[in-house]
Amino acid sequence: MTQISKKLLVTCALPYANGSIHLGHMLEHIQADIWVRYQRMRGKQVYFICADDAHGTPIMLKAQKLGITPEEMINKIHKEHQHDFADFFISYDNYYSTHSIENKILSEQIYLKMKKNGYIKSKTILQFYDHKNGIFLPDRFVKGHCPKCQSANQYGDNCEVCGATYNLTELINPCSVISGVIPEMRKTQHFFFDLPLFSNMLEIWVQSGTLQPQVVNKIKEWFNSGLQQWDITRDAPYFGFEIPNAPSKYFYVWLDATIGYIGTFKNLCKKKPNIDFDSYWNKDSTIDLYHFIGKDIIYFHSLFWPAILECIGYRKPTNIFVHGYITVNNAKMSKSRGTFITARNYLDYLDADCLRYYYATKLSSNINDINLNLKDFVQRVNGDIVNKIINLAARNIGFINKHFNSNLSSRLSYPKLYQHFISKSDKIGKQFCKQEYNKVIREIILLADLANRYIDNESPWLIAKQYGREQDLHDVCSMGINLFRVIMTYLKPILPGLTQRIENFLNISLNWDDINNPLLNHKIVPFKTLFQRININDIINMLSASNKK
Ligand code: MSP
Ligand code: ZN
Repeated sequence: MTQISKKLLVTCALPYANGSIHLGHMLEHIQADIWVRYQRMRGKQVYFICADDAHGTPIMLKAQKLGITPEEMINKIHKEHQHDFADFFISYDNYYSTHSIENKILSEQIYLKMKKNGYIKSKTILQFYDHKNGIFLPDRFVKGHCPKCQSANQYGDNCEVCGATYNLTELINPCSVISGVIPEMRKTQHFFFDLPLFSNMLEIWVQSGTLQPQVVNKIKEWFNSGLQQWDITRDAPYFGFEIPNAPSKYFYVWLDATIGYIGTFKNLCKKKPNIDFDSYWNKDSTIDLYHFIGKDIIYFHSLFWPAILECIGYRKPTNIFVHGYITVNNAKMSKSRGTFITARNYLDYLDADCLRYYYATKLSSNINDINLNLKDFVQRVNGDIVNKIINLAARNIGFINKHFNSNLSSRLSYPKLYQHFISKSDKIGKQFCKQEYNKVIREIILLADLANRYIDNESPWLIAKQYGREQDLHDVCSMGINLFRVIMTYLKPILPGLTQRIENFLNISLNWDDINNPLLNHKIVPFKTLFQRININDIINMLSASNKK
C-alpha cells in the first residue's frame, strides 16, 4: 500500500444522461463516497467530482423518441441525478456535465494537440448506414445472425449466445434496430487515435502502479492480443462536439467523456478560484488522482485515458479502483423481473444509510460481482445497526437521562476495554484505505458484540435496583455510551445520515483522533428515535412500485 498524499482528486464514472440512476450505479458512488469521507476525516484535502455523460447516439435517439431536444432531456436528467446523489449523501464538490463549454474547449484543444503531435490517423472505413433515417449505425444499433453460430438477434460486435466477437461487416442478415431496414454499407472518413504507439508507456504504467491483480490480468490479455487504433469519430447526425476543421464529424462520446473529468474539475476551479488547476494536472503533479469505475469500462480508463493524458503532457491517474456488478437476488437487474430498482424508487421507501451499510458489508478490493439479496439486506441492517449498535446506546441512555440529568460520568468503569476499542483505529483505518469495507464492518461488529456483552454482564437494570450503587450505574452506562461513540466514529464514513443524528445526541462532532480522549463530564441531548428498523413491507412496496414503472 503506497502512502496517500495530502491532496486528492477523486472521480466516479460519469453516468449516461439517458436514464435514471439505479442501485447498480449506486454501488460505485457509495464505494467512492465512503472512501472520500474517510480520507477527509483523516485530514486529507479531497475534491470529489462527477458529471453526467451527455453525448452519443443513444441519448440523441432517446430525446427524439420523447419529442424533446437532447439539451432539454440532459438538463432534466442532470437535475434528477444530482438529487439522487445528494439524497444518498454522496458528497460531490461538483456534479457537472460533459455537455459544457469547458469540456468543449478542452476536447478541441486536446484533439488538436494529439493531431499536431502525429497521434491522429485518418482512414476511410465502411460503415452500416440506415438510409431511411439518414444515420450511420453504431454497433449496438445493428442486429443480425451471428457469423459463427447463426443465432438470430445478435448485436454487431459480439454474440451473446456463443460469445464470439467479430466485425460489424461479418454479421449475417443485418438490420437496423431503429427502422428495421437492411442497412447499406457506406464509405466514410474517420479519425483514429493511434493507441499502439503508446504500448510501451502503457505496459510500464500498468506494471508500476498498484492496480488490482484482477485488473492487471485483464489488461495483460489486451496487450497480448495487440492494441488497436481507436476510432474517435462519429458522423452527423450526432449529439456531441463537432471536430475542428471537419464539418459533420463529431467526437465519439467516449473521447469527451474521459476529458469530462478535466472539464468538471475546471468548472470547479471557476467556482473555487483558490484551486490551482495546473498543480492537479501537470506532468509532475504530486497530487493523487483516483478513478472509481466498474469492471466494464477498464479498457477506457487503463489504456485510452492514460494514453490521452501522456500525449498532451498531463499527469496519469495514481490508481484506478474497479468494482464488480450488482445483481439483485443473484440475477442481472431486470425491468421485466421488477428488480431494476432506481435510486428514487429506493429512497421513496427506505433510508439511504441502509443501502450504504449493506453495500459496505459486501465491498472489498476485488472486482467480483456483488449480490443484493433483499432478505439478507433486511436482516443485516436490522440485525447489525438496530439490534447491535443502536441498542447499545438505547440500553444505557435511559439511565443517564433519568438518574444523572443527561450527564456522563467523570470516569470509565473499564478503561482497558476502552483501550481495546481505540487500539483498532489503525487496523480499521487501513481497511478503509484499501476499500476493504467488508472487513471494516466485521471489525466494528465484533466491537459492538463486545460492548453489548459488557453491558449484559454489568446489567445496569439490576444495578439501578440496588441501594447505594449510583456511582456504578453512572460509570457503567457512561462506559456503554463511550464505546458507542467509538463505534459510531468508525462508522461515520459509511452512515452519514445516522451520524448526524448521533452527533446531535452526543452533542459533539465525531472525529477520528478525538476517540483517544473518552467523553467524560459531558452533557448529552435526549433523543427519541435514532434509527428506524426496516419493515419487510417497505421492501414489498418498493418492489411493487418498481414493477409498475
Ligand atoms: N458513461 C460511461 C462512463 C464514462 S466515464 C468517463 C458509462 N456510464 S454508465 O452509466 O453506463 O455506467 C456508469 C458506471 O456505473 C460505470 O462505472 C459502470 O460500471 C457502473 N455500473 C452500471 N451498472 C452497474 C451495476 N449493475 N453494478 C455496478 N456498477 C454498475 O459507462
Ligand atoms: Zn454466436
